[in-house]
Amino acid sequence: MHEGSADTKPIAIRRARLNDVPAIVATEQNAESAAHWTVEQYKNLVDRGVVLIAEQAGKLCGFICAQVVAGEWEIENVVVASEFLRRGIASELIGALIQRAREERASSVLLEVRESNLGARRLYEKHAFGVVGRRRLYYKVPEEDAILYALRFGQLIRAEKC
Ligand SMILES: CC(C)(COP(=O)(O)OP(=O)(O)OC[C@H]1O[C@@H](n2cnc3c(N)ncnc32)[C@H](O)[C@@H]1OP(=O)(O)O)[C@@H](O)C(=O)NCCC(=O)NCCS
Repeated sequence: MHEGSADTKPIAIRRARLNDVPAIVATEQNAESAAHWTVEQYKNLVDRGVVLIAEQAGKLCGFICAQVVAGEWEIENVVVASEFLRRGIASELIGALIQRAREERASSVLLEVRESNLGARRLYEKHAFGVVGRRRLYYKVPEEDAILYALRFGQLIRAEKC
C-alpha cells in the first residue's frame, strides 16, 4: 500500500511494543478530537489489549487500540498524525484490527465517538459499523453526546451468505 515517491514510502502496520508508547502518546496529544489516555493506560493496552501502529521508515504515522472483554473488542482510540491524514491510514488500521478480531472469533467490535466527529463517523460507517445507541452528554469539555457503533460478526456472516 501507499508505495511510490519519497513522501509515500511504504507504510507498514504492526503490533505495538512498549517502546512505541512515547510516540503513541505524542501523536494522540496532538489530535484534539482523540480520546486522551495516560502512558500507563497505553502500556496496559499494549500488554493486555490490542494496539496496532502504522509506520513509515520507522516514524509512527498512526495507531489504533482496543480492549478485549469476553469476545467483545472495544476500540478506544484511532489517531493519525496530521501530516498523514486522508491517505487511507486509518482505514488500513481499522481493516487490520477487524481482520484480527475475526481471526480471534470476536463476537463484535464496538466503539463510541463524539456526535460531531463526522470524519471519524464516516470512517467507521465505511467499515460497516452501524449506530446502536447514544449516550447523552457522555463527553465533557465540551459536553456532547456519544454515538455508539457496533460491527457484529454474526450479522456480517449472514449478510455475506445472502
Ligand atoms: C479520524 C481519523 C483517524 C481519520 O484518519 P485518516 O487516516 O485521515 O482517514 P482515512 O484517510 O483512512 O479515511 C478513510 C475514510 O474516512 C472518512 N474520513 C476520514 N477523515 C475524514 C474527514 N476529515 N472528513 C470526512 N470524512 C473523513 C472518509 O470516508 C475516508 O474515505 P475517503 O478518503 O475515501 O473519502 C483522523 O482524522 C484523526 O486522527 N482524527 C483525530 C483523532 C480522532 O478524532 N479519532 C477518532 C475518535 S477517537
